[in-house]
Amino acid sequence: MQFMILTFFLLTSAACHSIINPRLMSNFDDNWRFHLGDTLNAQNSSFQDSTWRTLNLPHDWSIEGSFDEKSPAGPGGGYLNGGIGWYRKTFTANKAWKGKDVVIDFDGVYRNSEVWINDHYLGMRPNGYISFRYDLTPYLRYDKPNVIAVKVDNSQQPNSRWYSGSGIYRNVRLVITSLSHFAQWGIYVTTPEVNEEKAFMNIQYQTVIQPTQEPVTIRSLLYDVNGKLVAKSPRITVKDAVSSTTMEVVGPHLWSTTDPYLYTMVSQLYVGNQLEDELSTNVGIRYFNFDKDKGFSLNGKPMKILGVCNHYDLGCLGIAVNKRAIERQLEILKDMGCNAIRTSHNPPAPELLDLADRMGFIIMDEAFDMWEIPKTKYDYSQYFAKWHKRDLSDQIRRDRNHPSVMIWSVGNEIPEQYPHKNDSTHRGGIIMKDLCSIVRSLDTTRPIVTANNDPDPANPLISCGATDLIGINYHLENVLSFPKVFPNDKLIITESTSALETRGWYQMPSDSISRVPKGNGTYSTPTHFCSAYDNCATPWGSTHEETWKVVKAHPYISGMFIWTGFDYIGEPTPYTWPSRSSYFGIIDLAGFPKDVYYMYQSEWTNKTVLHIFPHWNWKPGQTVDIWAYYNNADEVELFLNGKSLGKQHKVGDQLHVIWKVPFEPGTLRAVSYKNGKQVMVTEEKTSGPATRMVLSADRRKIDADNSDLSYVTVQIVDQDGTLVPDASNLINFSITGPGKIIGVDNGSEIDHNSFKANYSNAFFGKCLVVIQSTHKPGTIHLTATSDALPSCMIDIVSK
Ligand code: GAL
Repeated sequence: MQFMILTFFLLTSAACHSIINPRLMSNFDDNWRFHLGDTLNAQNSSFQDSTWRTLNLPHDWSIEGSFDEKSPAGPGGGYLNGGIGWYRKTFTANKAWKGKDVVIDFDGVYRNSEVWINDHYLGMRPNGYISFRYDLTPYLRYDKPNVIAVKVDNSQQPNSRWYSGSGIYRNVRLVITSLSHFAQWGIYVTTPEVNEEKAFMNIQYQTVIQPTQEPVTIRSLLYDVNGKLVAKSPRITVKDAVSSTTMEVVGPHLWSTTDPYLYTMVSQLYVGNQLEDELSTNVGIRYFNFDKDKGFSLNGKPMKILGVCNHYDLGCLGIAVNKRAIERQLEILKDMGCNAIRTSHNPPAPELLDLADRMGFIIMDEAFDMWEIPKTKYDYSQYFAKWHKRDLSDQIRRDRNHPSVMIWSVGNEIPEQYPHKNDSTHRGGIIMKDLCSIVRSLDTTRPIVTANNDPDPANPLISCGATDLIGINYHLENVLSFPKVFPNDKLIITESTSALETRGWYQMPSDSISRVPKGNGTYSTPTHFCSAYDNCATPWGSTHEETWKVVKAHPYISGMFIWTGFDYIGEPTPYTWPSRSSYFGIIDLAGFPKDVYYMYQSEWTNKTVLHIFPHWNWKPGQTVDIWAYYNNADEVELFLNGKSLGKQHKVGDQLHVIWKVPFEPGTLRAVSYKNGKQVMVTEEKTSGPATRMVLSADRRKIDADNSDLSYVTVQIVDQDGTLVPDASNLINFSITGPGKIIGVDNGSEIDHNSFKANYSNAFFGKCLVVIQSTHKPGTIHLTATSDALPSCMIDIVSK
């Protein structure tokens, strides 16, 4: 019986198909040679690269450099340099590939990449965010090694308003298939009809077929998470490059942000009876709607899109893609209650979309930060006319199967919004219509939007009538008047807030809001910090509370994307040098939440929250504003050294409560109550001098796959274990065992230590070191040392 069950499983499970899959996907990241700077003849296969550095992709060379006040990348680029870099890889073609189709896939190269194989020029791709493929089949040799050379040119600066990074920063793979196969992004699944009883799916196939006498047929099989076959499409005979079929799923398990259920669809291509290709696609079945009055609903249930905008750098790792680093960001955001990400302002790494599918995030997938009119001197505007159709089409075709992707954005704050001229000859309107028609020729299942910083109905991007939603950046007053001004339109706040905060630094009085920078944008303070009380914002933006109060109160607002979830390198508004990274994040660059994180958590989750701040180390007699974010309770009582300072509760749309407390050393204790019963207690204590470090790892066990990560936080504490809130001790790290330090950070916007160093200063008591596994299993020992503090160690097991 057991045998029968096993056989049945093997015959029906998705897993068994991969064993016989004739398609081979081979990771091509390891052992590249790299040279920073331009070099003559490096594209030639005979070129000697033995003195070049050996490295594994994904790689970002800019993050390895020093912050440079004179960097042509400027403040936007985080004062890190671009330049030209060459990558070369020598490899042997496997004899088994003969008679097959061999292609190389690049998920993304920043920017202006040119690729050669064995002295043959394969092509160039200016767009730094787009995934692309070259056919290697005609040029491969089997009698001697093959050489791939890639030139990456990020020397024209500035070309980005944020830190772009440089290099082959996303994954590369070889894909080997039979000559008859599914084309790149050759499967497109939609679910035009979904309800609780039934889902009706359309499947479109794009194929490359060799002339053959035998019939070419395709079928798709749908498996649930247990590997059980739940639906099948009829087998169809393929005659043209594009064909389609349907599938019905009875009692579909719907995908949502709280239950991101994924089916696996296996599509098989046969020539005669021979299986020639097989592709696996994650399928999430869901339906959603934007309503002009009621906002957004998913699977018929109203909900708000509680989103953040993020750039793609991963803090101290720079832009080098790492799946675990992205997953960690999403975990931190999920814990805050965030359910959506805007990939501002470019197509994301494919790993982000896979994780969003699995973890339950809604994605607004954005294409461009500019069209024909530049925002920085050397940006993509110079390539837009020639490349936009290809780039946008490739983005849509790559991303359109992801259930997480629910909005296409074809532009952010596009200068073609101006001037207002309501006629059909306006260039902005013409491009807008062109982009929308490109998108709709490939996908009609998702609304299209632009993120407008000019919310006027006469804005040609709006008045041309091509988009499905009206996207507004900032301008809360226009958000409020929206139903009047746009009575027939649906609204999404494509970007909001732009508040400014430095984790751990507080400016009183906390109820006085500074709007910076003022005037011409040059702004400086002795600290180069911004207050973490949520009382500092840009003049075009608003504080977190100001924004959320508006969004929360109005059902017609389908949701918003806050600028930003995480801090990022570059755009250090309101400052310039020495500031080199942003202040916008709800979470700092190292991944440490700022206080306002808990405001969102108290509003966006059911988790019980009671968060008081700031710390309790002040000058005797100084009056300190103590804030509390809380939920699941009616009121909060604050005690100082056991003495009650009174109870407070939120009135109206208030999102926090506050006490003004004359400082005396000791313990602040907050207690929340519901119906008079204690719900939660939290404390802030005055710390003594720093006496030791505490190391804690987000993961003590990682995979020995040369990629997995453990993020280790260092906290400087006093003898009782209380965080020393102003500690800035220099900490050195050393490591033994099968792991390496790949980044350090502390969340400071002005720290000029290298992200690649093996030391870091604590910043307001904390810093971070990122450990990566190698291919070898074993125990990694990390030691932290610091003058005047005993050294401290932590072990991480890599398996
Ligand atoms: C917006 C822009 C973002 C970022 C932000 C900073 O206008 O779309 O990319 O620059 O401002 O506040």
